Amino acid sequence: MLSEFLVSEMARLATEGALPLHRQLYEAMRRAVLDGKLAAGERLPSSRDLAEDLGLSRNTVMAALNQLGVEGYLVSRVGSGTFVNENLPRPLPRPHVVHTSRPARLSRRGEALSSTFCATQLEVQPFTPGIADFSAFPVLLWQRLQNKHWRMTYPDMLDYNDSGGYAPLRRAVADYLRVFRSVRLDADQVIITSGTQQSLELCAHLLADHGDTVWVEDPAYWGAVKAFMATGLSMHPVPVDDQGVAPSARDEAHPPRLIYVTPSHQYPTGAVMSLARRHQLLAAARVHEAWILEDDYDSEFRFSGPPVSSLEGLDQDGRVLYMGTFSKVLYPGLKLGYLVVPKPLVAPFRQAHYDLNRPGQMPLQAALAEFIEMGHFASALRRARQSYAERRRSLLEALKPCLGPGSRHGAYLSGAEQGLHLCLHLPATTDDVALAARIAKAGLTARPLSAYCLQRTDVKGLVIGYGYAPLAEIEQHGPRLARAINSRITHGPSSF
Ligand SMILES: Cc1ncc(COP(=O)(O)O)c(C=O)c1O
Repeated sequence: MLSEFLVSEMARLATEGALPLHRQLYEAMRRAVLDGKLAAGERLPSSRDLAEDLGLSRNTVMAALNQLGVEGYLVSRVGSGTFVNENLPRPLPRPHVVHTSRPARLSRRGEALSSTFCATQLEVQPFTPGIADFSAFPVLLWQRLQNKHWRMTYPDMLDYNDSGGYAPLRRAVADYLRVFRSVRLDADQVIITSGTQQSLELCAHLLADHGDTVWVEDPAYWGAVKAFMATGLSMHPVPVDDQGVAPSARDEAHPPRLIYVTPSHQYPTGAVMSLARRHQLLAAARVHEAWILEDDYDSEFRFSGPPVSSLEGLDQDGRVLYMGTFSKVLYPGLKLGYLVVPKPLVAPFRQAHYDLNRPGQMPLQAALAEFIEMGHFASALRRARQSYAERRRSLLEALKPCLGPGSRHGAYLSGAEQGLHLCLHLPATTDDVALAARIAKAGLTARPLSAYCLQRTDVKGLVIGYGYAPLAEIEQHGPRLARAINSRITHGPSSF
């Protein structure tokens, strides 16, 4: 009986994968013990008999029995043989399983985190916002640099890193931010992270306690919302207008510990925060002893006028933490970004970053440092800026019929001077979710502005990206997008 069971179980295991014979026998015997086919205290046949019954070598049988002995399933008694351990814990009775499609039970936080906010999945189609065109990334050059740094890698470069990142990369980032973003910093204030998401979580963990209030722009960047959800903060939405986030007395009644903003190009409306608002926000941070988290995610792409300076550059109190990412200029899968912290926070942030995230990737960071130092980053940026400017122009041209005094529906654009997306505002009566669904049916993606809102119901429109699709596709599909928008709004549902 036992040998029949073992033979059939081993045959089944053999079809599932290339397990060596002694491992097949071990698995089969373990199953026999766990299923009660071999009872507790039962004496096993001798290894010689088992080998004969199963047609295996005695070594194979011994190897399986030894392993079962080591793991406590079997015990050997000198002179009497091998027995199933009498003291094995009883298996828990299996509940009567009713197979339903009910998902596994999540924590309340897990429910909130996994419920959809904005994008259901990674959609990469013409006009998907937030995605750059990384097809132009100089892959061969990058390969060469990576190979070079792997060849030069010393064992310590393979370890975790507790100093906030590879020093030459931190210096290169500091030089760039000082010159182009008016951020005042020393390289030791730069912490290399795995991107904005990690920078935000680090700030939330270190600067706020569970339940503390974070002011979040409304509408908001979903990545930040999720980071604050995950860290147990209480989000207070502050409305955004054409000058950026606009805190009022109502908001002051919810004193923040953190204030999350995208001042150079509000995500998703694209509003540039006015100087008056910047001062208002800095004053609010001072009054509430709050920290401002400045997410400067796409300021590299400014198409008209000089770059908008950072909010950090105006801060006199050391209350702004500035963060950026390499996801847009290089590629998102690189998973590298940076966080600039005020000097008094350098030591605790480095320590906590080390403890929470065990940062590494030194050879990759070394390759990136050289990429920047040799001027490749600047030329990739120049090329990308030029190419996005053409795409943006083409999209603006295509959207003209949706706008202007001739437009019967009062639509207008915002945020088109910078970044990789723009925002088309539509009247508050528009069902922008239905409009986006209609556009999706045509194989295009424009996200409903209302999907980014936390509390507001008066904001409707479409967030339209021009970073991902090449110029030819924008020229081809732009007019279709405009027709869909116009037909839906002016005449109600009609064919595309
Ligand atoms: C507002 C904002 N911040 C940051 C990022 C990038 O974050 P990460 O560095 O995690 O790729 C994005 C990407 O779309 C964004 O829209």
